[in-house]
Amino acid sequence: MACNLIFCALVVILMKLLKKGAEGDIFATMDQGRPAILKTRNKKPYRNSLLDNKIRRQRTIREALIISEAKSFGIFTPLIYRVNTKDCAILMQHIRGAVVRNLRGKKLVWACKEIGKIAGTLHKNGIMHGDLTTSNFIVSNGRVCTIDFGLSQKTSRIEDHAVDLRLFKEILNSAHVGQMEKLWPSFLSGYRSVVGTDRFQSVLGYVSVIEGRGRYAAVI
Ligand SMILES: Nc1ncnc2c1ncn2[C@@H]1O[C@H](COP(=O)(O)OP(=O)(O)OP(=O)(O)O)[C@@H](O)[C@H]1O
Ligand SMILES: [Mg+2]
Repeated sequence: MACNLIFCALVVILMKLLKKGAEGDIFATMDQGRPAILKTRNKKPYRNSLLDNKIRRQRTIREALIISEAKSFGIFTPLIYRVNTKDCAILMQHIRGAVVRNLRGKKLVWACKEIGKIAGTLHKNGIMHGDLTTSNFIVSNGRVCTIDFGLSQKTSRIEDHAVDLRLFKEILNSAHVGQMEKLWPSFLSGYRSVVGTDRFQSVLGYVSVIEGRGRYAAVI
């Protein structure tokens, strides 16, 4: 207990706020001499407090569990150092590197193919990432690390996997405008190489269905 309090005090003293997110904050800190990231999920005053606690706790637990599970089938994810379900906080390995969103040119094309392979591997193992954007991948020592599993789900449904692909396409269109013609095929070739042609055609077919729905909704 005393040890835990000392640890918490040290973490608080050494914390540096890296990012204020929609859900919570990201701090850079140290854990037993290792560079670490503390990810918190803050209370939402507009939400019923019982429901709010449940949602924040659920997302914290899900994120920590799926980060570890993905590692078990070869996806590069941060090591989880500690999870505090009461405060809805995760202490994890700090991955040094460049967020894919900030890459340009050939490196970005390569990273998109790697993200395609990662998405394929997650899907093959029954996991939907839920927030497949270029901000949630970090290139570190020539490998792509996947983060931010707070919205991930256990699902093997084609429709759910198509939602991941559709979101990634949307992000390429908005955050990487003008590079879409190279980035989307690169992502798709990585994805196809892992899931196989039949599954690829089915999921991609469903992406078109989702896009069709979007257009229909826009017309109405
Ligand atoms: N383990 C980590 N190592 C290095 N950087 C990290 C790590 N976790 C998060 N970050 C940095 O913090 C940013 C936000 O982290 P994350 O996506 O997990 O939080 P979020 O609150 O869901 O943010 P967003 O709303 O932008 O998705 C990442 O884009 C990355 O720059
Ligand atoms: Mg994120």
